Amino acid sequence: NSFEDQECDYLFKAVMIGDSAVGKSNLLSRFAKDEFRLDSKPTIGVEFAYKNIKVGDKLIKAQIWDTAGQERFRAITGSYYRGALGALLVYDITRRVTFENIKKWLHELREYGNSCMAIVLVGNKSDLTHSREVNEEDGKALAELEDLYFMETSAMENINVEDAFLQLIRKIY
Ligand code: GTP
Ligand code: MG
Repeated sequence: NSFEDQECDYLFKAVMIGDSAVGKSNLLSRFAKDEFRLDSKPTIGVEFAYKNIKVGDKLIKAQIWDTAGQERFRAITGSYYRGALGALLVYDITRRVTFENIKKWLHELREYGNSCMAIVLVGNKSDLTHSREVNEEDGKALAELEDLYFMETSAMENINVEDAFLQLIRKIY
């Protein structure tokens, strides 16, 4: 069984998707290593990180895959989604276009992903209040319409980052 592992009760695969520069890689590095970089480079291909989490009396090893938002740097889509039980669908609250593209990412998720996948819609960069282009209400409304969880986060200030990932994991176990 591919979801089992020697050291833990469950292996949980989740994927990060969304436009380039919305902060996917920094959300993941904040969650997995408590690291943030202002000068991070666009992801090329696929990277991943692990984090062990206790849910009740179960030890869950989360394996989180992160890929490029830029089409030309993306790896083959089928293998990226294979076996994934959760997805973090990320936009940048300071760039409206990244929110408008969520529909496109949802389409891809529903085409390649498992139909019972847990999905959290994430509005990242909530620290940049002065340049906000997407209201929190718009995010909430879209999440309700599409039956997703919703959270605004800041990878920079470490706001709601752990909660966003934990929401995914708790939904499954
Ligand atoms: P691709 O790999 O190209 O798809 O981009 P990405 O979505 O992984 O974005 P990345 O994590 O590389 O972040 C892009 C830029 O946004 C970097 O300069 C980060 O420092 C910045 N950034 C990420 N999260 C936040 C945040 O919460 N607040 C602020 N102010 N900046 C952030
Ligand atoms: Mg990246």
